[in-house]
Amino acid sequence: MATYQLLDGKRCGDALRAEIAKGALEVRSGRGRGPHLAAVLVGNDGASRTYVEAKVKACEEVGFRSSLITLPETTTEDDLLHRVKQLNKDKELDGFIVQLPLPEHIDADKVTLAITPDKDVDGFHPENIGRMVLGLPGFLPATPSGIVELLRHYHVETAGKHCVVIGRSHIVGTPMSILMSRNAYPGNCTVTLAHSRTKDLPTLTRQADILIAALGKPEFVTADMVKDGAVVVDVGIHRIADAARKSGFRLVGDVKFDEVAPKCSWIAPVPGGVGPMTITSLLLNTLKACQR
Ligand code: GUN
Repeated sequence: MATYQLLDGKRCGDALRAEIAKGALEVRSGRGRGPHLAAVLVGNDGASRTYVEAKVKACEEVGFRSSLITLPETTTEDDLLHRVKQLNKDKELDGFIVQLPLPEHIDADKVTLAITPDKDVDGFHPENIGRMVLGLPGFLPATPSGIVELLRHYHVETAGKHCVVIGRSHIVGTPMSILMSRNAYPGNCTVTLAHSRTKDLPTLTRQADILIAALGKPEFVTADMVKDGAVVVDVGIHRIADAARKSGFRLVGDVKFDEVAPKCSWIAPVPGGVGPMTITSLLLNTLKACQR
């Protein structure tokens, strides 16, 4: 049994945000205006509203300007594409995001493609994904980039390690697999990307030196799926009912923390692991956009 240490995203995020705030001051004194991020929220999804509000608040805390654009559930695809075009042209704006998921009648891929790559601070546009794959400068997607920064901050060794990523989403699993296999630090891993059709997942995950759980199922990863001494990064975040709490719920990840943590060398908890790092990466991308 290993003694585990926490990959503390709050601490690491706070340290990076202090640097970002300094960077924002520098650009403001150089060009008369600081970084400005806009976030577009369509519809009434409660979780999306919470995330977007957290992003806007984080902007204020590091001295960025932020604009929250809320549009009704009934917004048409054409209306949204028109708004995106306006934001692409807005010279007062360094970057913007359209919060996902979008209402079902809107094609999210069309919207992502419409965002100009140089304002795509989410790093979702195919041009930025292509740049990431080729190791060219561009915007990295926020969650994978936050995980990479977290591993760097705690000097976690990655070269030559077997990294198993569970989940192949476009915004986390797939880009994560690419970043961990890059010839860079953190990176240089041998990567396996596991998904819903993978056979005998526990046998595979038990071979992981670094296990990244991004499949979106509450407490899916159990102790029997983890090797002694592994580094575990939990990307999931779920509310589950808990009558013992005043709020009536508690937050859990994709990993059953209490039983998995004692087997780990390092583990990113939920909450307080990857979550704060994701927003920090968005701030970093926005600062970069403004410095260009
Ligand atoms: N929905 C869940 N995560 C994200 C994210 O990082 N960016 C956007 N735009 N939507 C999301």
